[in-house]
Amino acid sequence: MTTPSSKPRILVSRAIFPEVLAQLESVFDVEHNQADALWSAQELITRLQGKDGVLTTGSECISAELLQACPQLRICANMAVGFNNFDVPAMTASGVQGTNAPDVLTETTADFGFALLMATARRMAESEHFLRAGLWKRWSYDMFCGSDIHGATLGILGMGRIGQGIARRGFHGFGMKVIYHNRRRLDAEMEAACGARYVDKATLLTQSDHLVLVVPYSAESHHVIGAKELAQMKSTATLVNIARGGIVDDAALACALRSGQIAAAGLDVFEGEPRVHPDLLTVPNVVLTPHIASATLATRRAMAQLAADNLLRFFVHGDVLTPVNTPVASRN
Ligand code: DGY
Repeated sequence: MTTPSSKPRILVSRAIFPEVLAQLESVFDVEHNQADALWSAQELITRLQGKDGVLTTGSECISAELLQACPQLRICANMAVGFNNFDVPAMTASGVQGTNAPDVLTETTADFGFALLMATARRMAESEHFLRAGLWKRWSYDMFCGSDIHGATLGILGMGRIGQGIARRGFHGFGMKVIYHNRRRLDAEMEAACGARYVDKATLLTQSDHLVLVVPYSAESHHVIGAKELAQMKSTATLVNIARGGIVDDAALACALRSGQIAAAGLDVFEGEPRVHPDLLTVPNVVLTPHIASATLATRRAMAQLAADNLLRFFVHGDVLTPVNTPVASRN
């Protein structure tokens, strides 16, 4: 006769590092998805029946409907710093703890933001495609001229930990003038550490030579860069988005790139990804990467570990390391 397990029951919704999965399996009754199948919203709900916790990536939505359909669920641990895939008010109201994975990816993501900025401003992808296509017949004085990074004005929209990491790289490493706009101004000491000056959004748009978006996605930041904002930017400017799709109006951006309203863009995130707006695929002056800003093995491992540690803390000690909410009631 089999007896039901007294261990908390956990769903791991995507493939993760085997050693992190093994840790979870040593404590919990785990259903995993090491085959990395993409589950529909309904299938996720089905798999969550009877589960006490779930380890998600930024790709799985924890909606009010899902919470209602999974009354046993008590914690959702996201293996991502962004948690716009969580309906946080619904989680809070229904007594479900949410956690994210901040800090462990800050420097890796800032490295990538800077790399994407450089690749974009210096036209690396476009020139590489030209070379691979066998089109390079001779050197010429204006071939693939881009714009300088050093000494230029770096604009940052969203000055959280990753924004500050990019600012430090620009200021200390490349002698850039750094300006930023954020909901909340940093204190003087933090501004000095990254050599950044607070400006309003209009100034950020009109003065930046290179504008990097690192703002979290919310209803407020939806299409925060659209046709009107692109029209305010310099025609020589570079735009980089490593935050979330939906912050930029991709159709308006493709138009601005094609018409030369701005010089170039580097995008790691897309509205509706993994679908990419077809107009972006046909403009040459954009560097496109598949949401890999935090993708080094060390960092992805640390993100998975932090998500797992949040589950372990929650069920073993009754607290979590990196909460995104304070549930108003306990589910049981
Ligand atoms: C994050 O952590 O939010 C990254 O975008 C990976 O999803």
